[in-house]
Amino acid sequence: MLNAEEIRRDFPILEKIINGKKLIYFDNAATTQKPIQVIQVLQDFYTNFNANIHRGLHYLSQKASEMYEEAHDIVAQFIGAESRRSIIFVRNTTEAINLVAYAWGLKNLREGDEIIVSLLNHHSGILPWIKIAELKNARIKVVGVTSDGRLDMEKLKDLITRRTRIVSIVHMSNVTGTVVDIKRVNKLAHEHGVYVVVDGAQSVPHMPINVRDLDIDFLTFSGHKMLGPTGIGVLYVCKDLINELESFITGGGAVKEVHYKGEGFSIRWAGSPWIFEAGTPNIAGGIGFAEAVKYLERIGMKNIWEHEVSLVEYLFKRLKEEELDQYIQILGPKNVVERGGIVSFKVKNLDPHALHFK
Ligand SMILES: Cc1ncc(COP(=O)(O)O)c(C=O)c1O
Repeated sequence: MLNAEEIRRDFPILEKIINGKKLIYFDNAATTQKPIQVIQVLQDFYTNFNANIHRGLHYLSQKASEMYEEAHDIVAQFIGAESRRSIIFVRNTTEAINLVAYAWGLKNLREGDEIIVSLLNHHSGILPWIKIAELKNARIKVVGVTSDGRLDMEKLKDLITRRTRIVSIVHMSNVTGTVVDIKRVNKLAHEHGVYVVVDGAQSVPHMPINVRDLDIDFLTFSGHKMLGPTGIGVLYVCKDLINELESFITGGGAVKEVHYKGEGFSIRWAGSPWIFEAGTPNIAGGIGFAEAVKYLERIGMKNIWEHEVSLVEYLFKRLKEEELDQYIQILGPKNVVERGGIVSFKVKNLDPHALHFK
């Protein structure tokens, strides 16, 4: 069980009075507020440990490197990844999907190959693929949504051909809350040798995710949507696929050695994840993110998911009891296990901008 009152006390911002009222914050799908434990870790890092990583032999640099590396381990364990090699820290989900598109797509896509995107996707699960398709003369195919807001699985089956290389799919829609059966999508794609990029921006923060149980190739998510700082996110790459990626942004930290031998350079690249994290990363952000993950783990992802399901059940029940369901149309599945805690609705015959709550 989850004690919401106790948890709320960890969030200093919820004490704020805005417009004469104590803050009630509903914009968590956009970004969550931060618990005091995460805020303190950020302050502690800058107060006691700040240094660049992987570049210095002095105490602070060693310590910061250790903390930042350990943050990868904590995230790996959180999603059931085998090791930190699979956990690439980036800025956010958007950057993570772009990284797959460029680091995997530039190397592996050929003219005429097909990329499938879903209409349930966020812009960031569509636009990078449009750009890479243009660059590689590949073709974008689109899988739509059924009338009740589910991913059209039948259509997805029809769309996959022997030219299909990758499917980009959102796990939980930020618009309708629809939860896509990712295991099924992966099975379908894998039967045809097709990879799947799962956008977990809304699912990883709200439900238990195990990348190995779900047989995930690529998973992307953002720290700021799961109690962590802004500017830190993750690209998970299944260990068998790491070598299919070509480093995209390169520079300091991505190499072990570079030698110039008169006629050219000889380069010994660093291993994953460092080869994909060139330049000074968001060190404090990574460490703060790991603290957010620990916070979520203490509550328990199963408890979080069950709590959200119970809130949606309660909302649906109350709408019925108050007979409000005749005035509004809920978007997405009505079945609570096929949806997350985001409930979007339309008020019949009313423009959303004309709607006011008392
Ligand atoms: C489903 C989904 N994917 C991707 C994103 C993009 O996340 P970010 O802005 O952290 O890159 C969002 C943000 O709302 C989202 O909800």
